[in-house]
Amino acid sequence: MKPDDFEMFQQLLRQRSGLVLSRDKAYLLESRLLPVARRTGLKSLDELAVAVRTKKDETLLRAITEAMTTNESSFFRDMKPFDQFRNFILPKLLTSRASQKSIRIWSAACSSGQEPYSLSMILKDEAAKLAGWRIEIVATDLSSEILEKAKAGVYTQFEVQRGLPINYLVKHFKQRGDKWELNPDIRRMVTFREFNLLTDLSPLGKFDVVFCRNVLIYFDQQNKAKVLNGISKQIPPDGVLYLGGAETVLGVTDKFRPVEGQRGVYELTAGGAGSAARPAATPSFGTRSTLAAGGR
Ligand SMILES: C[S@@+](CC[C@H](N)C(=O)[O-])C[C@H]1O[C@@H](n2cnc3c(N)ncnc32)[C@H](O)[C@@H]1O
Repeated sequence: MKPDDFEMFQQLLRQRSGLVLSRDKAYLLESRLLPVARRTGLKSLDELAVAVRTKKDETLLRAITEAMTTNESSFFRDMKPFDQFRNFILPKLLTSRASQKSIRIWSAACSSGQEPYSLSMILKDEAAKLAGWRIEIVATDLSSEILEKAKAGVYTQFEVQRGLPINYLVKHFKQRGDKWELNPDIRRMVTFREFNLLTDLSPLGKFDVVFCRNVLIYFDQQNKAKVLNGISKQIPPDGVLYLGGAETVLGVTDKFRPVEGQRGVYELTAGGAGSAARPAATPSFGTRSTLAAGGR
């Protein structure tokens, strides 16, 4: 690929999704964008670069951006954050939100849905305690294509073998041919929405818990800070943020600090809490599910 074409794609991707692509990743650009070029009736990346420069076609730009996202995910990824949510955060919320009986959770780069569905399954286990509560799990991603897969809730044998405890597979999935389909009661607990983390986060409303895992790792410092500072405004002073194992707030923002002894979990600092509002009982969009003890 010509150096100025590489730079053009590099800039485009940073601007549209936050993805930072170093020179040594040129092979990735080639392998992922050639199919986009072919689907558009173009023969090569040279032709694709010309099309981008001359046509300014939004559909094409979106296809390029989506093709370059990494959608790797798995149920209960890294397990510990989900155990931590179940054993520490959820019991705390059950006490602190007892008068509102309302909890909002955001899976901020949900990919094919394993993250928000893992949270649904945990909440389903606690249905007896949550009877009468309004629980909302909002799951967003930049990629419309991956969101379609997430909404469908259909996974391969390989995907359900990675991290999903066997009792959850038996309890919450039906086998259809060589695929596994998630039961509707778990699917209905999640509201999916296309959303770019680089934009204004306020239309999503406030959240008690945010999972923003394994996405900031692809961003530069400036965009990491922008997203983290944005999230700090969307959670109440006692809200929590989960980041991926290779991600941190340290050296990026002073709005969050690590929760002592809980790897990957972050809370607001006094400065961060200063810019946050108290829990929003009113979501600005989406539906809420009421968890009935016996399932719905
Ligand atoms: C590696 S997956 C992480 C999925 C899940 N959070 C996990 O930890 O398993 C990263 C996801 O971030 C999404 N993504 C990348 N840039 C984004 C942006 N600017 N806004 C929203 N989502 C983005 C990608 O489409 C992809 O699905």
